[in-house]
Amino acid sequence: MLKKLRLYWSMLNYGLAHNRDFAHEHHWFFRDMLERVGDVHGRRVIDIGCGKSFWLTLLLHSAGAVVTGVDTELVTAKHGPGKYLAILKENGLERALRTLCWDLLFARPYYKELAGLCTEPLRWDRLDVRCVSAITLDEFPDATFDLAVSHEVFEHIADIPATLRALRRVLKPDALTYIYIHNFTSLSGGHHIAWKYPDTEPSATVPPWDHLRGNLYPDIPSWINRMRERDYRREFGKYFEIVEWIPYGREGESLLTPEIRRELPDYSEDELLTKGFIVKARPRQGTIES
Ligand SMILES: C[S@@+](CC[C@H](N)C(=O)[O-])C[C@H]1O[C@@H](n2cnc3c(N)ncnc32)[C@H](O)[C@@H]1O
Repeated sequence: MLKKLRLYWSMLNYGLAHNRDFAHEHHWFFRDMLERVGDVHGRRVIDIGCGKSFWLTLLLHSAGAVVTGVDTELVTAKHGPGKYLAILKENGLERALRTLCWDLLFARPYYKELAGLCTEPLRWDRLDVRCVSAITLDEFPDATFDLAVSHEVFEHIADIPATLRALRRVLKPDALTYIYIHNFTSLSGGHHIAWKYPDTEPSATVPPWDHLRGNLYPDIPSWINRMRERDYRREFGKYFEIVEWIPYGREGESLLTPEIRRELPDYSEDELLTKGFIVKARPRQGTIES
């Protein structure tokens, strides 16, 4: 219980310190994505794991895409007590309290900052966010979407092969994925709050790469599957033709001492220093043996 309280206290402080930074990071990611995938106007898009702030769905919708955000958490743009009761019923008390906390403390300044960064107004009308698991995507017919996007979600998904199978099914044959995965073996990839900003706010308490070494501080905000980049490459390769595998962000270079390097011989330097990667891929055609 004490550990949980400590975790939530650090999450609260982290949110208070960085809420507006998130808006900048998200807007930057979105602009960069548009440069890499082209105009989204009129394209049928799925945002896998849109999250309670569903920012990527909101930005795509505002840019004219016909986008659906899906998440296992019950996400909704609505407010009022009914929302928290529904989340309580669907996802439990902890999720309901986390969403309440986000709505009360962070949502308003976050969206205000995000709106200020956009040249077009944010469009809240007819936003399509649904409670659907990426593992099945069972409410979508085959060949529905032109583009699948995702930001920091795949590392939280329990069954990646089933997710990729489902995703391939709902994508049109010439569709594209633009999936950003936070690299588990990176310094921040262990998802410890203390290592969210390794280069500007290194932790004085939690050892660097603790999640690959002693794992002395295992308390993190959400479950992760601990898959490595090579595991994703293998699984994506079964269902998708990789168009581009884009390393995204580098961190922790000055913290990777020869001592730590010696402790982690199984990992390449790139694996330890690359924050994440984007998978641009197209569905493989023909029959695939599972
Ligand atoms: C770190 S959050 C990222 C949310 C959002 N994409 C963002 O960047 O803010 C991970 C999200 O993945 C969702 N998630 C985990 N497993 C999922 C699954 N099987 N299907 C859909 N969403 C899932 C979680 O509920 C959570 O909202």
